[in-house]
Amino acid sequence: MFEYNAPDNLLKDKIILVTGAGSGIGRTAALTFAKYGATVILLGRTTSKLEEVYDEIEENGWPQAAIYPMNLAGATEQDYTNLANTLDDEFGRLDGLLHNAGLLGELKAIAQYDLDKWNEVMHVNVTAPFLMSRELLPLLRKADSSSIAFTSSSVGHKGRAHWGAYSISKFATEGLMQVMADEEDGLSQVRVNTINPGGTRTSMRASAFPGEDPMSRPTPEDIMPAYLYLMGDESQSVNGQTFHAQQPGSPETHNIV
Ligand SMILES: NC(=O)c1ccc[n+]([C@@H]2O[C@H](COP(=O)([O-])OP(=O)(O)OC[C@H]3O[C@@H](n4cnc5c(N)ncnc54)[C@H](OP(=O)(O)O)[C@@H]3O)[C@@H](O)[C@H]2O)c1
Repeated sequence: MFEYNAPDNLLKDKIILVTGAGSGIGRTAALTFAKYGATVILLGRTTSKLEEVYDEIEENGWPQAAIYPMNLAGATEQDYTNLANTLDDEFGRLDGLLHNAGLLGELKAIAQYDLDKWNEVMHVNVTAPFLMSRELLPLLRKADSSSIAFTSSSVGHKGRAHWGAYSISKFATEGLMQVMADEEDGLSQVRVNTINPGGTRTSMRASAFPGEDPMSRPTPEDIMPAYLYLMGDESQSVNGQTFHAQQPGSPETHNIV
Protein backbone atom coordinates (compact mmCIF):
# COMPACT_ATOMS: atom_id res chain seq x y z
CA MET A 1 0.00 0.00 0.00
CA PHE A 2 1.15 3.58 -0.67
CA GLU A 3 2.15 4.92 2.72
CA TYR A 4 1.27 8.39 3.92
CA ASN A 5 0.26 9.65 7.36
CA ALA A 6 -1.88 12.70 6.78
CA PRO A 7 -2.10 15.38 9.47
CA ASP A 8 -5.68 15.88 10.73
CA ASN A 9 -5.99 19.32 9.13
CA LEU A 10 -4.37 18.36 5.79
CA LEU A 11 -7.21 19.69 3.66
CA LYS A 12 -8.45 22.53 5.87
CA ASP A 13 -10.01 25.33 3.79
CA LYS A 14 -9.61 23.40 0.54
CA ILE A 15 -12.44 23.17 -2.00
CA ILE A 16 -12.37 19.78 -3.70
CA LEU A 17 -14.70 18.37 -6.36
CA VAL A 18 -15.15 14.58 -6.52
CA THR A 19 -16.95 12.94 -9.46
CA GLY A 20 -18.85 9.74 -8.82
CA ALA A 21 -19.05 10.77 -5.17
CA GLY A 22 -22.17 8.76 -4.38
CA SER A 23 -20.71 5.26 -4.22
CA GLY A 24 -17.59 3.12 -4.28
CA ILE A 25 -14.17 4.77 -4.10
CA GLY A 26 -15.58 8.24 -4.84
CA ARG A 27 -17.93 8.06 -1.85
CA THR A 28 -15.07 7.13 0.47
CA ALA A 29 -12.78 9.78 -1.04
CA ALA A 30 -15.44 12.46 -0.51
CA LEU A 31 -15.97 11.44 3.13
CA THR A 32 -12.22 11.21 3.74
CA PHE A 33 -11.49 14.63 2.21
CA ALA A 34 -14.26 16.15 4.36
CA LYS A 35 -12.88 14.44 7.46
CA TYR A 36 -9.50 16.06 6.78
CA GLY A 37 -11.08 19.48 6.54
CA ALA A 38 -12.12 20.00 2.90
CA THR A 39 -15.34 21.45 1.60
CA VAL A 40 -16.31 18.76 -0.88
CA ILE A 41 -18.43 19.22 -3.98
CA LEU A 42 -20.25 15.94 -4.48
CA LEU A 43 -20.86 15.37 -8.19
CA GLY A 44 -22.65 12.32 -9.54
CA ARG A 45 -25.64 11.03 -11.45
CA THR A 46 -27.76 9.64 -8.57
CA THR A 47 -28.91 12.45 -6.31
CA SER A 48 -30.15 10.17 -3.51
CA LYS A 49 -26.67 8.67 -3.13
CA LEU A 50 -25.07 12.12 -3.05
CA GLU A 51 -27.57 13.18 -0.38
CA GLU A 52 -26.56 10.23 1.80
CA VAL A 53 -22.91 11.29 1.59
CA TYR A 54 -23.90 14.90 2.29
CA ASP A 55 -25.83 13.80 5.39
CA GLU A 56 -22.96 11.67 6.66
CA ILE A 57 -20.60 14.64 6.33
CA GLU A 58 -23.06 16.84 8.22
CA GLU A 59 -23.63 14.25 10.97
CA ASN A 60 -19.89 14.13 11.58
CA GLY A 61 -19.64 17.91 11.86
CA TRP A 62 -17.20 18.18 8.94
CA PRO A 63 -17.30 21.23 6.60
CA GLN A 64 -20.65 21.45 4.86
CA ALA A 65 -20.56 19.80 1.45
CA ALA A 66 -22.30 20.83 -1.78
CA ILE A 67 -24.25 18.56 -4.13
CA TYR A 68 -23.99 18.90 -7.90
CA PRO A 69 -26.06 16.26 -9.75
CA MET A 70 -24.69 15.63 -13.24
CA ASN A 71 -24.86 12.67 -15.58
CA LEU A 72 -21.53 12.60 -17.39
CA ALA A 73 -22.98 10.42 -20.15
CA GLY A 74 -25.41 13.12 -21.32
CA ALA A 75 -23.80 16.37 -20.19
CA THR A 76 -23.20 19.00 -22.88
CA GLU A 77 -20.35 21.51 -23.14
CA GLN A 78 -22.76 24.13 -21.78
CA ASP A 79 -23.36 21.96 -18.69
CA TYR A 80 -19.62 22.09 -17.91
CA THR A 81 -19.56 25.86 -18.43
CA ASN A 82 -22.52 26.14 -16.06
CA LEU A 83 -20.66 24.01 -13.50
CA ALA A 84 -17.61 26.28 -13.72
CA ASN A 85 -19.75 29.43 -13.38
CA THR A 86 -21.62 28.02 -10.39
CA LEU A 87 -18.38 27.09 -8.60
CA ASP A 88 -16.85 30.46 -9.44
CA ASP A 89 -19.87 32.28 -7.97
CA GLU A 90 -19.98 30.05 -4.90
CA PHE A 91 -16.29 29.54 -4.10
CA GLY A 92 -14.18 31.68 -6.47
CA ARG A 93 -11.55 28.96 -6.89
CA LEU A 94 -10.99 25.19 -6.84
CA ASP A 95 -8.14 23.47 -4.95
CA GLY A 96 -8.73 19.89 -6.02
CA LEU A 97 -10.47 17.87 -8.72
CA LEU A 98 -10.73 14.09 -8.39
CA HIS A 99 -11.91 12.49 -11.61
CA ASN A 100 -13.21 9.27 -10.13
CA ALA A 101 -16.49 8.43 -11.92
CA GLY A 102 -16.03 5.58 -14.34
CA LEU A 103 -17.90 3.03 -16.36
CA LEU A 104 -16.78 -0.56 -16.86
CA GLY A 105 -18.92 -1.20 -19.95
CA GLU A 106 -18.97 -4.75 -21.26
CA LEU A 107 -16.22 -7.31 -20.92
CA LYS A 108 -16.04 -8.64 -24.48
CA ALA A 109 -13.50 -9.20 -27.21
CA ILE A 110 -12.96 -6.30 -29.61
CA ALA A 111 -14.34 -8.62 -32.33
CA GLN A 112 -17.74 -8.51 -30.60
CA TYR A 113 -17.59 -5.05 -28.99
CA ASP A 114 -20.73 -2.95 -29.46
CA LEU A 115 -20.23 0.60 -30.86
CA ASP A 116 -22.78 2.25 -28.56
CA LYS A 117 -21.14 0.71 -25.49
CA TRP A 118 -17.73 1.80 -26.80
CA ASN A 119 -18.93 5.37 -27.24
CA GLU A 120 -20.55 5.48 -23.80
CA VAL A 121 -17.45 4.19 -21.99
CA MET A 122 -15.10 6.49 -23.90
CA HIS A 123 -17.41 9.41 -23.27
CA VAL A 124 -17.81 8.93 -19.50
CA ASN A 125 -14.19 7.87 -18.88
CA VAL A 126 -12.30 10.20 -21.25
CA THR A 127 -14.38 12.92 -22.93
CA ALA A 128 -16.18 13.98 -19.75
CA PRO A 129 -12.97 14.38 -17.68
CA PHE A 130 -11.40 16.27 -20.61
CA LEU A 131 -14.32 18.74 -20.82
CA MET A 132 -14.55 19.13 -17.05
CA SER A 133 -10.79 19.74 -16.74
CA ARG A 134 -10.85 22.27 -19.58
CA GLU A 135 -13.73 24.23 -18.08
CA LEU A 136 -12.46 24.09 -14.48
CA LEU A 137 -8.80 24.95 -15.25
CA PRO A 138 -9.33 28.72 -14.79
CA LEU A 139 -10.73 28.06 -11.30
CA LEU A 140 -7.92 25.64 -10.45
CA ARG A 141 -5.38 28.22 -11.60
CA LYS A 142 -6.90 30.73 -9.16
CA ALA A 143 -5.95 28.59 -6.14
CA ASP A 144 -2.53 28.95 -4.46
CA SER A 145 -1.82 25.28 -5.06
CA SER A 146 -4.20 22.91 -6.82
CA SER A 147 -4.35 19.27 -7.79
CA ILE A 148 -6.08 17.34 -10.56
CA ALA A 149 -6.12 13.57 -10.03
CA PHE A 150 -7.40 11.30 -12.78
CA THR A 151 -8.32 7.69 -12.02
CA SER A 152 -6.43 5.09 -13.96
CA SER A 153 -6.31 1.30 -13.82
CA SER A 154 -3.82 -1.53 -14.21
CA VAL A 155 -5.44 -2.31 -17.59
CA GLY A 156 -4.58 1.26 -18.61
CA HIS A 157 -0.90 0.31 -18.48
CA LYS A 158 -1.01 -3.19 -19.96
CA GLY A 159 -3.91 -4.15 -22.22
CA ARG A 160 -5.90 -7.22 -21.23
CA ALA A 161 -8.11 -9.41 -23.44
CA HIS A 162 -11.86 -8.71 -23.15
CA TRP A 163 -11.45 -5.43 -21.23
CA GLY A 164 -12.35 -3.51 -24.41
CA ALA A 165 -13.18 0.19 -24.22
CA TYR A 166 -12.55 0.33 -20.46
CA SER A 167 -8.90 -0.66 -20.84
CA ILE A 168 -8.40 1.64 -23.80
CA SER A 169 -10.12 4.55 -21.98
CA LYS A 170 -7.67 4.16 -19.09
CA PHE A 171 -4.68 4.32 -21.49
CA ALA A 172 -6.25 7.54 -22.79
CA THR A 173 -6.63 8.78 -19.21
CA GLU A 174 -2.90 8.36 -18.65
CA GLY A 175 -2.30 10.23 -21.91
CA LEU A 176 -4.63 13.08 -20.96
CA MET A 177 -2.87 13.38 -17.61
CA GLN A 178 0.60 13.49 -19.18
CA VAL A 179 -0.38 16.07 -21.80
CA MET A 180 -2.05 18.34 -19.23
CA ALA A 181 0.80 17.93 -16.73
CA ASP A 182 3.31 18.97 -19.37
CA GLU A 183 1.16 21.95 -20.37
CA GLU A 184 0.74 23.22 -16.80
CA ASP A 185 4.40 22.65 -15.91
CA GLY A 186 5.99 26.08 -15.53
CA LEU A 187 2.73 27.78 -16.57
CA SER A 188 0.65 27.41 -13.43
CA GLN A 189 0.66 25.87 -9.94
CA VAL A 190 -1.82 23.19 -11.09
CA ARG A 191 -0.40 19.67 -10.75
CA VAL A 192 -1.86 16.78 -12.70
CA ASN A 193 -1.39 13.11 -11.80
CA THR A 194 -3.19 9.77 -11.98
CA ILE A 195 -4.10 7.28 -9.28
CA ASN A 196 -4.50 3.62 -10.07
CA PRO A 197 -6.58 2.30 -7.15
CA GLY A 198 -5.75 -1.35 -7.84
CA GLY A 199 -8.40 -4.03 -7.31
CA THR A 200 -10.66 -2.55 -4.62
CA ARG A 201 -13.85 -3.86 -2.95
CA THR A 202 -16.59 -2.01 -4.89
CA SER A 203 -19.53 -2.90 -7.10
CA MET A 204 -17.42 -2.29 -10.21
CA ARG A 205 -14.84 -4.82 -9.03
CA ALA A 206 -17.62 -7.32 -8.23
CA SER A 207 -19.08 -6.93 -11.77
CA ALA A 208 -15.66 -7.46 -13.33
CA PHE A 209 -14.74 -10.44 -11.12
CA PRO A 210 -18.03 -12.13 -10.09
CA GLY A 211 -16.23 -15.27 -8.89
CA GLU A 212 -13.85 -13.43 -6.57
CA ASP A 213 -14.33 -13.29 -2.80
CA PRO A 214 -14.84 -9.55 -2.23
CA MET A 215 -13.20 -9.87 1.19
CA SER A 216 -9.93 -10.70 -0.57
CA ARG A 217 -9.67 -7.12 -1.85
CA PRO A 218 -8.79 -3.99 0.15
CA THR A 219 -11.61 -1.57 0.91
CA PRO A 220 -11.79 1.98 -0.48
CA GLU A 221 -10.77 3.19 3.01
CA ASP A 222 -7.55 1.16 2.77
CA ILE A 223 -6.39 2.98 -0.38
CA MET A 224 -7.05 6.54 0.83
CA PRO A 225 -3.43 7.45 1.74
CA ALA A 226 -2.54 8.01 -1.93
CA TYR A 227 -5.67 10.12 -2.45
CA LEU A 228 -4.93 12.27 0.59
CA TYR A 229 -1.31 12.72 -0.41
CA LEU A 230 -2.27 13.92 -3.88
CA MET A 231 -4.88 16.39 -2.59
CA GLY A 232 -2.67 17.83 0.18
CA ASP A 233 0.07 20.41 -0.21
CA GLU A 234 2.86 17.92 0.45
CA SER A 235 2.47 16.78 -3.17
CA GLN A 236 2.68 20.39 -4.40
CA SER A 237 5.71 19.73 -6.60
CA VAL A 238 4.54 16.34 -7.89
CA ASN A 239 3.37 16.57 -11.48
CA GLY A 240 2.82 14.14 -14.34
CA GLN A 241 3.11 10.95 -12.30
CA THR A 242 1.15 7.75 -11.90
CA PHE A 243 0.42 6.60 -8.36
CA HIS A 244 -0.46 3.00 -7.63
CA ALA A 245 -2.50 3.22 -4.44
CA GLN A 246 -1.69 -0.35 -3.43
CA GLN A 247 2.05 -0.32 -4.17
CA PRO A 248 4.61 0.96 -1.67
CA GLY A 249 7.09 1.84 -4.44
CA SER A 250 4.70 4.24 -6.17
CA PRO A 251 4.76 6.62 -8.05
CA GLU A 252 6.09 5.82 -11.49
CA THR A 253 8.11 8.76 -12.65
CA HIS A 254 7.53 10.31 -16.04
CA ASN A 255 9.98 12.92 -17.19
CA ILE A 256 8.26 16.18 -17.96
CA VAL A 257 10.58 17.92 -20.37
N1 LIG B 1 -12.70 -0.90 -7.89
C1 LIG B 1 -11.61 -1.26 -8.54
O1 LIG B 1 -11.10 -2.38 -8.34
C2 LIG B 1 -10.96 -0.31 -9.51
C3 LIG B 1 -9.72 -0.67 -10.06
C4 LIG B 1 -9.09 0.19 -10.95
C5 LIG B 1 -9.69 1.40 -11.27
N2 LIG B 1 -10.90 1.73 -10.73
C6 LIG B 1 -11.48 3.03 -11.09
O2 LIG B 1 -11.85 3.72 -9.89
C7 LIG B 1 -12.96 4.59 -10.17
C8 LIG B 1 -14.06 4.29 -9.17
O3 LIG B 1 -14.46 2.94 -9.35
P1 LIG B 1 -15.38 2.13 -8.31
O4 LIG B 1 -14.79 0.80 -8.19
O5 LIG B 1 -15.64 2.95 -7.12
O6 LIG B 1 -16.69 1.99 -9.20
P2 LIG B 1 -18.23 2.06 -8.84
O7 LIG B 1 -18.46 1.53 -7.46
O8 LIG B 1 -18.94 1.45 -10.00
O9 LIG B 1 -18.51 3.63 -8.80
C9 LIG B 1 -18.45 4.37 -10.00
C10 LIG B 1 -18.95 5.76 -9.73
O10 LIG B 1 -19.03 6.46 -10.97
C11 LIG B 1 -20.32 7.03 -11.09
N3 LIG B 1 -20.73 7.14 -12.48
C12 LIG B 1 -20.78 6.15 -13.41
N4 LIG B 1 -21.28 6.64 -14.56
C13 LIG B 1 -21.54 7.95 -14.34
C14 LIG B 1 -22.10 8.98 -15.13
N5 LIG B 1 -22.53 8.76 -16.38
N6 LIG B 1 -22.24 10.21 -14.60
C15 LIG B 1 -21.85 10.45 -13.32
N7 LIG B 1 -21.33 9.51 -12.51
C16 LIG B 1 -21.18 8.27 -13.02
C17 LIG B 1 -21.23 6.08 -10.32
O11 LIG B 1 -22.44 6.71 -9.99
P3 LIG B 1 -23.72 5.84 -9.50
O12 LIG B 1 -23.37 5.30 -8.13
O13 LIG B 1 -24.80 6.84 -9.44
O14 LIG B 1 -23.93 4.76 -10.50
C18 LIG B 1 -20.36 5.77 -9.12
O15 LIG B 1 -20.45 6.79 -8.15
C19 LIG B 1 -13.35 4.33 -11.61
O16 LIG B 1 -12.77 5.32 -12.43
C20 LIG B 1 -12.74 2.97 -11.92
O17 LIG B 1 -12.48 2.81 -13.28
C21 LIG B 1 -11.54 0.91 -9.86
